[in-house]
Amino acid sequence: MNSIPGGPLTRSAAPGRGVAGPAAPEPETSATVSGSLAAALRRSAQVERQVGEEPRRFRVLTGDRPTGDLHLGHYFGTLRNRVRLQDAGAELFVLIADYQVLTDRDAAGAIGGHVLSLVLDYLATGVDPARSVIFAHSAVPELNQLLLPFLSLVTEGELRRNPTVKDEIARLPSGGAPPRTPRGMPDGRAGVPGMPRQASVNGLMLTYPVHQAADILACKGNLVPVGQDQLPHVEVTRLVARRFNDRYPGAGGAPVFPEPDALLSEAPLLLGTDGGKMSKSRGNAIALRATADETARLVRGAKTDALRHISYDPAGRPEVSSLVLLAALCLDRDPAAVAAEIGGGGAALLKRTVTEAVNERLAPVRARRAELAADPGYAMRVLRDGCARARSAAAATLEEARDAMGMRY
Ligand code: TRP
Repeated sequence: MNSIPGGPLTRSAAPGRGVAGPAAPEPETSATVSGSLAAALRRSAQVERQVGEEPRRFRVLTGDRPTGDLHLGHYFGTLRNRVRLQDAGAELFVLIADYQVLTDRDAAGAIGGHVLSLVLDYLATGVDPARSVIFAHSAVPELNQLLLPFLSLVTEGELRRNPTVKDEIARLPSGGAPPRTPRGMPDGRAGVPGMPRQASVNGLMLTYPVHQAADILACKGNLVPVGQDQLPHVEVTRLVARRFNDRYPGAGGAPVFPEPDALLSEAPLLLGTDGGKMSKSRGNAIALRATADETARLVRGAKTDALRHISYDPAGRPEVSSLVLLAALCLDRDPAAVAAEIGGGGAALLKRTVTEAVNERLAPVRARRAELAADPGYAMRVLRDGCARARSAAAATLEEARDAMGMRY
């Protein structure tokens, strides 16, 4: 698989400046994906130490597509990490990537409702709207305008080589029957019946990583907590920042954009209740907002295996181990110890343990969420205030960028 030029191994020596000067071609890294992953992990550990020492130097930009309710995978994978960074003193911008939903859907459908639901999930899990900014990128025209010069900084070949985009294209519904969710409902994802898969890839699908660079750079985010699948997009962001800075030096030659670092969070591998990838759209995820009873029902129906004795063996017994891990995460305990304690109690005791642990862990989150949702205008007010704050940051950045490009009228 090709890796993106300018990957972690070709990190520039001085922040914000290209390695070889404006005229030189971007170096193609020959590193393998695992090699660049190892480098990203090392870099991430280094950044984590810097955050510990000087949290205020960091502006964190992270976000989600509003495609459904956030679930336990999000909670343990990213949500609590964001709140940790906020509480450590970093500035936190949380983006709701509504335009990005249109990469693989041909209808906006319930996006608006999902957006407000996400706002409630963020607030309930500890994002503090007094300190942090929650915004939707469609509401920030200045951010979207940055996409235009940014698109000129990447080649079509680079866009097509992005491994995450390639993967998403491969998973697009192919021609023929309209796409359906696992429950048989039309899922709204784009796909042109009778057309070969590649023919139905829309322009946003190929270019959204550059839009994502605009999300990050409009706010001058310098720290992007991500899972492994998002690393290529952070690389695109670094590339765009580097090329812009090389091509259009800012006032006094200072770079306009930071080259943000990825903070690789070690997301625990939680499977959905059907043993597949936990996903908002598959109906196999325990949503943060689910009731205690819904949680119990979902866990009761979860897939296990035929062995009575419970053990923690993620490779050999993925479904059982994922349940053990979920209980352990909720209880802040070691999964092997949790499994040993359940032992001969079998799947029934395992499921009871999981249900109780999840419901206990989420009880304060759910109570807070219900309290906030009781005021129907509150989430919208928080969002509008966040959009206004993101907009003023993006407007200032766009001014600087236009100045650097000599487009000042
Ligand atoms: N691509 C991210 C996802 O699917 C969402 C996202 C959009 C994002 N823009 C971003 C994440 C900028 C981090 C930074 O989850």
